[in-house]
Amino acid sequence: MTASAESSSELARLPQHVAVVMDGNGRWAEQRRRPRPFGHRAGVKAVRGIIRACVAKGIGALTLFAFSSENWSRPRSEVRSLMDLFLRSLRREASQLSDNGVRLRFIGDRSRFSAELTKLMHDVELQTQHNARLHLNIAINYGGRWDIAEAARKLALAVQRGELAAEEIDVECFGQALSLSDLPEPDLLIRTGGEHRISNFLLWQMAYTELHFSTALWPDFDEAAFASALADFALRERRFGKTSKQLAPDGKTEGG
Ligand code: IPE
Ligand code: IPE
Ligand code: MG
Repeated sequence: MTASAESSSELARLPQHVAVVMDGNGRWAEQRRRPRPFGHRAGVKAVRGIIRACVAKGIGALTLFAFSSENWSRPRSEVRSLMDLFLRSLRREASQLSDNGVRLRFIGDRSRFSAELTKLMHDVELQTQHNARLHLNIAINYGGRWDIAEAARKLALAVQRGELAAEEIDVECFGQALSLSDLPEPDLLIRTGGEHRISNFLLWQMAYTELHFSTALWPDFDEAAFASALADFALRERRFGKTSKQLAPDGKTEGG
């Protein structure tokens, strides 16, 4: 294989859309005998690192789980400090992200955020809307079940208004009503922190996503750890219901 053929086959195995459950900030802080918000602040550095790596590698979309709809159940002081961290980080990083061609969007229910945070989110989305190098989606007060229920509600309202026939609702149409429907579905999910679960992240969108679980706590998830997740992804055989034989270059079978 020539060098260029090799690099183009590597490129073909690069995910187009990476989703990340950034878990382990609290434990990272506790290991250092520091309060949990110290770990969340350290997590912001790891966020910068993975954004930089995606831009450098040409990965087109990155969706980060920053706050789940269930995370409101945490101690009030931790929730307050997280909201404050979102606001400050967004203020500080928005211009540089925009200059680097990043399009920022937020997915999740915004109704519980402060007016200040809601406005900033809106402004940043507007400011970066024409950027296309990296689609960076931040899931904040997001839940996969919320996303599905919202889509159902939108479609029901469209039927009620007479804009859509109930019979037209199928998998394609339903998928279009969900968050991130304009992007390819995540092909790689990384969860740090050692837990093997989805925690109500992108439920519908991850039907065929490859799952990579890392024991690294999120603040420790560096470029090498990301490279190893990508290497793991490159080795996966994505069959989408077919057989291995059908996927082989000369693997034509009847109907395949
Ligand atoms: C993930 O880290 C960040 C958020 C959920 C906001 P955690 O805060 O869940 O960290 P652990 O899992 O307690 O270590
Ligand atoms: C998932 O982490 C949500 C985020 C990373 C934002 P959690 O720490 O909330 O998940 P569970 O509670 O361990 O499932
Ligand atoms: Mg956690």
